[in-house]
Amino acid sequence: MPAIAIIGAQWGDEGKGKATDLLGSRVDYVVKFNGGNNAGHTVVIGDEKYALHLLPSGILSPGVTPVIGNGVVVDLAVLFEELDALIARGVDVSLLKVSANAHVIADYNRTIDKVTERFLGSRRIGTTGRGIGPTYADKMNRIGIRIQDIFDEKILAQKVEGALDLKGQILTKIYNRRPQTVEETVEELLAYAERLRPMVCDTGLLLNQALDRGETVLLEAGQATLLDVDHGTYPFVTSSSATSGGACTGSGIPPTRLDQVIAIVKAYTTRVGEGPFPTELHDDNGEHLRKVGAEYGTTTGRPRRCGWYDAVIARYAARVNGVTDFVLTKLDVLTGLEKVPVCVAYDVDGVRHDEMPVNQSDFHHAVPIYEYLDGWWEDISDAREFSDLPVNAQRYVEAVEAMSGARISAVGVGPSRAATVVRHELI
Ligand code: GDP
Ligand code: IMO
Ligand code: MG
Repeated sequence: MPAIAIIGAQWGDEGKGKATDLLGSRVDYVVKFNGGNNAGHTVVIGDEKYALHLLPSGILSPGVTPVIGNGVVVDLAVLFEELDALIARGVDVSLLKVSANAHVIADYNRTIDKVTERFLGSRRIGTTGRGIGPTYADKMNRIGIRIQDIFDEKILAQKVEGALDLKGQILTKIYNRRPQTVEETVEELLAYAERLRPMVCDTGLLLNQALDRGETVLLEAGQATLLDVDHGTYPFVTSSSATSGGACTGSGIPPTRLDQVIAIVKAYTTRVGEGPFPTELHDDNGEHLRKVGAEYGTTTGRPRRCGWYDAVIARYAARVNGVTDFVLTKLDVLTGLEKVPVCVAYDVDGVRHDEMPVNQSDFHHAVPIYEYLDGWWEDISDAREFSDLPVNAQRYVEAVEAMSGARISAVGVGPSRAATVVRHELI
């Protein structure tokens, strides 16, 4: 029985939250496998709007077991704030499970994230400042704190002391900041232990047993392909594996059990933070997309950089992730344009590139080669069947599908759950 991954095809904010919510009623488990509270997913159900950061969007679907996998970095204060906010709104969060192996974001890593960005100046990444990068760095350096450590005060104190030995020196000697002491850090983390205890388990075992029983597991990515630490526009990336490979390492579900990879792709492109973005618009068109698409970050409120659809990136995402289906979101935002440009290849110093250039410097000055598709003027937000779309909108979807390396199985025409045109059933 299926394990299905949902991943972002671009630089994030493609509408993964809405897609997960849409499939929520048909699955048994929804797993967040990477990232932390750097993510921001807006889910609209009827008149209710939810903004989720650390919790998987599947927590909003009654009866679904939400899981925070081993690949996630957890800010415990944010975890309980988000849970309490949902409880206050009547959402049942009692099924949540948290991996004993997930890493914990300690206070010193939140501070290091912020001061490093300031120190980098014009070379900054534009991180969300949540401590994500430094916490993953600790994991790789083998000085991280894991969820299971919270239940043994002695071990926790040893581990915090080990990490702070190094990190405290960095904060005081390089950045002139007074870090929290070992005692303060341990006390802060221990305060969550009792509430956390019933949620913690071997989530890899839990999920594999669920698959053995024939249940369906949806793996929900934070961030996206071009923010992936291996496959993204390094160094302008996040510090986790946001692609389908990460769905396996970050959950404990082996690749042989993954049946389907659904990539969410916006009908245009956005990016928050620094880094290359070939189709970015610095003119009125960019402002138009930002305004009509309400392109402001769910996590930091920053205006998102906007540009046209980039089929080179979509093909790359299809290849890296083994995409079986695309969900094309926010098609409604393109309504009312005379012509809709789509980037089909890049010009790099007079040479045409149909695939992502191997060298990052080339990508930085890649000039998009556009194809101009005919626009449409009709309001499409009530379309539910493909045939409800104006002919030019249908042609746009078909043209983008032909360029992007996998079928487009659903099309988003508005933020709400219902505002979706399904062409092929996703599960
Ligand atoms: P995520 O991080 O990938 O989950 O995406 P975000 O939630 O950060 O950003 C996507 C935004 O677009 C959210 O505000 C959604 O409510 C909204 N959205 C999703 N699909 C559609 C769509 O098809 N049309 C419109 N107009 N908005 C959409
Ligand atoms: P969702 O899940 C868009 C970006 C940040 C920055 C870079 C590194 O909502 O799609 P980090 O704090 O992760 O070290 O920042 O990654 N970034 C996102 N951009 N959507 C996200 O998540 C993002 N999560 C991180 O802006 O450029
Ligand atoms: Mg988002």
